[in-house]
Amino acid sequence: MSGAIKVNKDIYYIGVSDPDIRTFDIIMKTANGTTYNSYLVKTEEGVIIFDTVKKEFQDQFFAKVESLCDYKDIKYIVMHHLEPDHSGALPELTKKAPNAKIFISPMAQPMLKSIAQSDNMEFETVWTNKELKLGSKTLKFLSTPNLHWPETMSSYLVEDKVLFSGDVFGSHYYDSRVFDDLVGDFDYAFKYYYEHIMRPFKSDVIKALSLYETLDIDTICNLHGPIIRNNPNKYIELYKKWSTKEDRHHGKKIISIFYVTSYKNTKDMAESIYNGIESNESLIANIYDLTALDEENMLSILEESTGILIGAPTINGDVPKPVWDLLSCMMLLEKKGKFGGCFGSYGWSGEAVEMMNSRLKALKFRVPLQPMKVKLIPTKEELFDCYNFGVEFGEIVNGKMVEMTL
Ligand code: FEO
Repeated sequence: MSGAIKVNKDIYYIGVSDPDIRTFDIIMKTANGTTYNSYLVKTEEGVIIFDTVKKEFQDQFFAKVESLCDYKDIKYIVMHHLEPDHSGALPELTKKAPNAKIFISPMAQPMLKSIAQSDNMEFETVWTNKELKLGSKTLKFLSTPNLHWPETMSSYLVEDKVLFSGDVFGSHYYDSRVFDDLVGDFDYAFKYYYEHIMRPFKSDVIKALSLYETLDIDTICNLHGPIIRNNPNKYIELYKKWSTKEDRHHGKKIISIFYVTSYKNTKDMAESIYNGIESNESLIANIYDLTALDEENMLSILEESTGILIGAPTINGDVPKPVWDLLSCMMLLEKKGKFGGCFGSYGWSGEAVEMMNSRLKALKFRVPLQPMKVKLIPTKEELFDCYNFGVEFGEIVNGKMVEMTL
């Protein structure tokens, strides 16, 4: 894939390929490499560039731009996303095309100067219902924040029925044939990308889909992986399915208790808490031994739970590793509206419970109760306290108003 590629009569793919990359953004495996997609649209009155590429590939990008237009013809640059894999060539582009006006979302404004490394740019912030006209083309802007950064947006080229979706509908999947109907099977990469980039923002995905659903979309020009032109609806429906919460329990809220235990003391606490929650018929409690739970299963359980309680003893002044694994996988979880709490038995110093509690607060869980700590073997009275802890936590998850602890 060396030169620019026509998407349709007026739209060109000017992205670049990174076939050898095997890890993206620290956390993602990229078995098939990736691409940094960028587009150029020609109109009778000038050119619009949609996003740029990672800096180390900018020479290829500029060669493609130069094969299609003079820099003086570039009237506008639309930056759907300022992450460096898409804005790396922006500083150089603003030097080569100093009169081009940049369009960004309002949230992107504080970042633009440092990303573009320039004080002399003309830019405008845009959002849903704002339009840009150039020649016979109409571009409608769409606010689609958090997909995948707070400043991300999309746009729609009306006459061509093309959605520029930003990271949405992307996949880390390089194939020189570029279009979804020509490349190999990239379904695994499409789903993996959704799970790592979009999954923590499911409610924002649903909001974006409600904007996209008002449009007649023939082609999705995304920022990574194959351009989607064969059956865009298939991919839109997949996002809808993955982002829609299933209500298997007819409105009953779920509270999941995760624990690890050395001598059954924390387990006994977990079971009393479980019984306390289950005493409320409008709740469903689940209980899991973390030492035998895979991360993928942790995430599904966390996703369907409104309340999460974590129990652990303190070992060598720390929280045992399976709990840290649970806490670290929460970076892929939408935490909005979730409640958390902690408990545990301890022998000596007992720091684990506070550590877990602080972590839940830092993750923006609502943590309404002081953690429940028991020295060594819980007495009958202490197990009753655990039962009541479960009752109280359940009532709060069910809507009882309380002040949150700091
Ligand atoms: Fe492809 Fe969020 O950058």
